Amino acid sequence: MLQTLKAETRPHHERAERVVRLLSPDLTPSGYRRHLEALHGLYAPVEASLAACLEGRIPGLRLAERWKVPLLEEDLRALGHDDASLACLPRHPGLPCLSGVPEALGALYVLEGATLGGQLILRHLTRHFAGAAVGGFAFFRAYGEAVGPMWKAFGEALTRACPEPALAPRVVRGAQDTFEAFEAWLREAHVDAPSRL
Ligand code: HEM
Repeated sequence: MLQTLKAETRPHHERAERVVRLLSPDLTPSGYRRHLEALHGLYAPVEASLAACLEGRIPGLRLAERWKVPLLEEDLRALGHDDASLACLPRHPGLPCLSGVPEALGALYVLEGATLGGQLILRHLTRHFAGAAVGGFAFFRAYGEAVGPMWKAFGEALTRACPEPALAPRVVRGAQDTFEAFEAWLREAHVDAPSRL
């Protein structure tokens, strides 16, 4: 299933990479904050849908350990946000594709896979912002040393949950829709523009 997902979303990954501007040598703390604000606007509704769809249903998924909104909020607070300003951040209206467990697993594949590329971004941000007061990069750090094991656990839970090849198209559709929502939302958020804070 993981191989199919990777193959079927390769062009989506390439497009998603292009809207992420965090590897730019010109990245400012404000540009970084703007990016995290946009991610928050997507992850908050998507994680809420994933919780509603998947919580308690897939053994071994370790869903409670995977939520990124608390990490995004930790980073955003370090960059000047508080409860009130976090509550005002614009949010994506939600993904219609998360209609069933296979689609939700496809969406979770996208969020979990992003922690892998996130390690590369983390190394860049750490170097780029050395000595600057921009927080501890909790979102990109994700599970720290456990990024590899958490990815492996996700793959195993996915395979157990979807042993039927017949379900693959629905999982792939969920992943593709999530990639597309990510790309459109980040593009719309103009992550190069100054932060609203
Ligand atoms: C500049 C931005 C990005 C870079 C440089 C990047 C880089 C990477 C790299 C190097 C991997 C492979 C890691 C490994 O195999 O150990 C990876 C995997 C992955 N990334 Fe990204 N990524 C970026 C953005 C994103 C975004 C924004 C998303 C989701 C919205 C995403 C989703 C994924 C997924 C799902 C995988 C797993 C692919 C698989 O099935 O093996 N990536 N990324």
